[in-house]
Amino acid sequence: MRYITAGESHGPQLTAIVDGVPAGLHISEESINADLARRQSGYGRGERQLIEHDRVRIVSGVRFGRTIGAPITLIIENRDWENWTDRMAVFGEAPLDLKRETTPRPGHADLVGALKTDSDDCRNVLERASARETAARVAAAGIARELLADLGVDVFSYVTSIGQAKFIEKDPMLDAPDYKPLEIEISDVRCPNEAAADAMRLEIDKARNLGESLGGTFRVVARGLVAGLGGYASAHERMTGRIGAALFSIPAIKGVEFGLGFEAATLPGSHVHDPIQLDPLFGFTRTSNNAGGLEGGMTTGMPLIVTCAMKPIPTLMTPLGTIELDSLEPAEASKERSDVCAVPACAVVAEGEVAFALANAYLEKFGHDNMADIRANLAAYKQRLKTVSR
Ligand SMILES: Cc1cc2nc3c(=O)[nH]c(=O)nc-3n(C[C@H](O)[C@H](O)[C@H](O)COP(=O)(O)O)c2cc1C
Repeated sequence: MRYITAGESHGPQLTAIVDGVPAGLHISEESINADLARRQSGYGRGERQLIEHDRVRIVSGVRFGRTIGAPITLIIENRDWENWTDRMAVFGEAPLDLKRETTPRPGHADLVGALKTDSDDCRNVLERASARETAARVAAAGIARELLADLGVDVFSYVTSIGQAKFIEKDPMLDAPDYKPLEIEISDVRCPNEAAADAMRLEIDKARNLGESLGGTFRVVARGLVAGLGGYASAHERMTGRIGAALFSIPAIKGVEFGLGFEAATLPGSHVHDPIQLDPLFGFTRTSNNAGGLEGGMTTGMPLIVTCAMKPIPTLMTPLGTIELDSLEPAEASKERSDVCAVPACAVVAEGEVAFALANAYLEKFGHDNMADIRANLAAYKQRLKTVSR
């Protein structure tokens, strides 16, 4: 399964095409809309979210609510487009009073994108580099989430820090899979701990008052995975690389850790590796999950737990210094309408990327033509794993 997205931040619409989806998969626009709403929400978001009410429209590849084995096209209209029809017109002449973006923001794609594409208007770059694009990704990932749900896998996320405010967990590698997604969803910072959530909101308020922005960290958890997805034999098979690459493709992600992550490098092996045991009901399992559900590039059957770090938003209301591209004189970077903090939203985007990578691993192992065969192959595989454990 592959996806491609198209569309500018202030253009008429965002489009995603998902290719390679098996036939017979139930699809609900409402589930995708719920994910789009989760991506739009969060304490610290900018005014754009008041304008947009993202809704998906599927225009190909689905018939009577089920996939037919053809590419799926998903469309999200940009409601803000009506305010940009002159500045973002597809054809015609640029308006005489067009304000070009010539003061590139440090930390964004503005400067390097303009140099690379030989553009005298950073808007040509930022319209596409904007994380508005991630709405299309979330829609595309909705297809992967439906597939995983059908196969008994759910993917959720929660925020572990914003700026200096941290959710300190006792043993996240064991506890995280038991957090109730509902407690996460009702929190506007996606944090299941009230005290930590309060501290996070305070950090965002402080940043907003200072014209600052903030980043943070979050975890993505996938439960219900079967052991043996991915592979150990060749570099491209390893789920570590596949999930890592998918997460690093999200704008502003600067770190990805699997399980204990960097902490594992500070501990002796006996405190890191997860002892194997045999459970009469579940087969091979582990007494701990410090690996975060991956060993040798494959899923272990324990929950997948990945932690991501997001850098602070580059657009600052107290802007950093830059160079104005016409005069080549020092100037203040531009202030595009912006989020102060988008860590909770980014976590939802990351869920989607993880879901897409996992869905592909299932298709690789259990077939990709139709859901009936995939379900049967998965059931047979699970049965074999159980038999081995008896
Ligand atoms: C969900 C989400 C929302 C974002 N919102 C904004 C925003 O409002 N303003 C902004 O300047 N950057 C925002 N960003 C961050 C930029 O997209 C990102 O910093 C930029 O693309 C450069 O990141 P890179 O250097 O990692 O590619 C957002 C990122 C994500 C994932």
